Amino acid sequence: MMHDRNYQEIIENICREIQPYAQLGRQADYIPALASVDPDKFGIYLSVLGGDDCMYGDYDTCFSIQSIAKVFSLAIALSLEGENLWMRLGKEPSGTPFNSLVQLEYEHGRPRNPFINAGALVVADVLLSHLDDAQEFFIQFVRQLSGNVTVDYSMEVAESEYETAYLNASIAYLLKHYVNLHNPVDEVLRFYSMICSVEMSCRDLARAFVAFAKSDEPFDHAGVKLSVSGVKRINAIMQTCGFYDEAGEFSFLVGLPGKSGVGGGIVAVYPSRYSIAVWSPRLNKHGNSIMGIKALERFTTETSESIF
Ligand code: DON
Repeated sequence: MMHDRNYQEIIENICREIQPYAQLGRQADYIPALASVDPDKFGIYLSVLGGDDCMYGDYDTCFSIQSIAKVFSLAIALSLEGENLWMRLGKEPSGTPFNSLVQLEYEHGRPRNPFINAGALVVADVLLSHLDDAQEFFIQFVRQLSGNVTVDYSMEVAESEYETAYLNASIAYLLKHYVNLHNPVDEVLRFYSMICSVEMSCRDLARAFVAFAKSDEPFDHAGVKLSVSGVKRINAIMQTCGFYDEAGEFSFLVGLPGKSGVGGGIVAVYPSRYSIAVWSPRLNKHGNSIMGIKALERFTTETSESIF
């Protein structure tokens, strides 16, 4: 096992090594408020269980977590519904882009997994059905997990997404047609846009995901309770579905469960060892951060540590 003190050195070396890739790709602009983000930001933060944290670059700058929020909402939904959740959605990789509509029609309104948008909309619907104030519950949960009470929604990003959510609206109406949304479409879309708008830093994300790295103890945070196998399942779904139609490639290159967002964030977990968050807004054609994947690929290679 690598000594913790080497992690900092490894991270700094990697950040230098991957510079040739720094100009590849572009930040997301289909949500207008994300188009104005500085594409050259880069941060990384490692939270080691029982060890020292390591960090580099813009690790303290907040950015839009986007689809990384789907891990938090899945944890809440699993805690509320248990195994019943899987009556409404699957746990198989989709092999399709995050916002694909086509598979949902073929499969009669049952989303393949909780991380594609169709599945995340069903999960959002579950939260709305169970919780008096889902928006407040969600943000309190994320604040407690990250240990940062200042974590918040961005109204600007949420509005911007909601105003242009034509594809997500199509997905939501198709779900509604198949009676797989129980709340009004508009409420689900608004709540989904809100949770995607949450802004966190790499430090906040790495600290929040420590709870998923603690894979040998039950999860009990802000009223969200999961068994050891519940935590295992969330990590398993991150492993197989966290990067949509690039999930196989991420698994191949990095070898850790992880989740991406179109804000350029990626968070990955090494069960029983660490959680790591990277942020670089330039994305590849799958909507995943190019430098984020590079950094994590180098990190698990240099440390010779992955789940495989
Ligand atoms: O549904 C959307 O378009 C966004 N709010 C979230 C998409 C996202 O982050 C996909 N992940 N890479």
